[in-house]
Amino acid sequence: MSMVEKRVQKGVERGQQFEIFVDGEKILAYEGETIGAALMAAGRRTLRYTNKYKHPRGLYCGIGLCQECRMVINGVPNTQACQTLATPGCQVETQQREKYSTGLTG
Ligand code: FES
Repeated sequence: MSMVEKRVQKGVERGQQFEIFVDGEKILAYEGETIGAALMAAGRRTLRYTNKYKHPRGLYCGIGLCQECRMVINGVPNTQACQTLATPGCQVETQQREKYSTGLTG
């Protein structure tokens, strides 16, 4: 049996469960996962709106390259949700263009 087959059979072990707050709503997260992953698991696809046209944006690359997942995390705007680990009680806001313009296009 290959290593991949062993991992698939064993399954995924999640860390301890806790709550985070996204736009005031409680969402479950697990130790070791990113805020982006917790939001996707909760069915939340919109993480920010574009500056110019207010188009919704969500997780795209998931590896810190595209900048589409910028949110306000614990009061810090333009924080990448895909690169930030969820921590118990952390406060996350959907980033609105009016509040946190970066000067970046889109
Ligand atoms: S999803 Fe691309 S940088 Fe986070």
